[in-house]
Amino acid sequence: MKALILCAGTGTRLRPFTHPLPKSLMPVGNRPLVAYLIDQLMEAGIREIGMVVPPRHREFLELSRVWFPEKVVFEWIVQHQPLGLAHAVLQARSYLQEEPFLLLLGDNFMQLDVRQMVQQFRSFPDAEGLVALKRVRDPRKFGVAEVAEKRILRLTEKPSKPASNQIVAGAYMLNPSVFQVIEQLKPSARGELEMTDALQEMVQQGRPIYAWEHKGFWQDVGSAAGLLKANKIVLQKIGNRIDGTLQGCSVTGPVRVGAGSRIVRSKLQGPLIIGQGCTIEGAQLGPYLTVGDGCAIRRAHLRDSLLMSGACIQDWQKPVVRSILGRNSTLKGAASSGRILLADDSTIWS
Ligand code: G1P
Repeated sequence: MKALILCAGTGTRLRPFTHPLPKSLMPVGNRPLVAYLIDQLMEAGIREIGMVVPPRHREFLELSRVWFPEKVVFEWIVQHQPLGLAHAVLQARSYLQEEPFLLLLGDNFMQLDVRQMVQQFRSFPDAEGLVALKRVRDPRKFGVAEVAEKRILRLTEKPSKPASNQIVAGAYMLNPSVFQVIEQLKPSARGELEMTDALQEMVQQGRPIYAWEHKGFWQDVGSAAGLLKANKIVLQKIGNRIDGTLQGCSVTGPVRVGAGSRIVRSKLQGPLIIGQGCTIEGAQLGPYLTVGDGCAIRRAHLRDSLLMSGACIQDWQKPVVRSILGRNSTLKGAASSGRILLADDSTIWS
């Protein structure tokens, strides 16, 4: 069976980081976000993966070159304009052909039981679709499902008065019959062809679409807060591994330090990942901190944050918390509290 992952979204809520980097490639625990979805597909034995990507998609090729060499057969399908999730699916029609497929949204971070989801779909001989649902406190920003006896009765995209707290959690099993429905679909109020509308149309035509409750962790990673939550979950699972050198440091909890990193007189509190080739001195780091490759940290205190590769922070007196520092950004010689979201190549310096 093939899987399709949609990664062509513009990532407006994660700007400025998504100006240069697609949302699904944002680093979490020093790996691209979408790599965690691909891991789960591989665990379930799915190795043929179609990736719907934006026209400028050079960075995606790293997934096959660096992260999954030889293990996954990727197909790159370009969506030239961001015209919606259903439009993205339609671009993959000739790749997917006439077989049922698993559809995943590349900006959803989840621990999905892929095998169980596929089995459940196959257990209904008449199923034309099956949608993973998650219960959330505020469903208004998502697709919302009304369900009876495991069958979906109605799906509504971002309703102001949700009829239930079960939302569409970014994983769908679909029959190729969905393509004909998408071809007839009209754009939504936000000008997009919505997957929710395509499935609702199928329901209205009397085609059986089933619900499957996703019980594992789920997080929409469209915002900085969502990205930091995903980072926390990833860090909870790391073990200890020190490949760099430590001098006069204290270490508590699970800590990973990449090769070529040199850490002097610092307090490291896991869960914490430090990438390769970093220079760290007189710092207090963690918990829940990801430090990318080639970062420099001197006399600073950071936790619950994400530093992308090449970020530099020096003589920052207040703790840096729930912050994201972009690639090659610099914080130097000042003190401010509160959250910092600093774009690639930017500097705060005083
Ligand atoms: C999309 C889907 C929505 C789903 C959500 C999950 O919303 O349209 O049905 O619940 O992903 O993240 P979007 O991220 O495009 O607002």
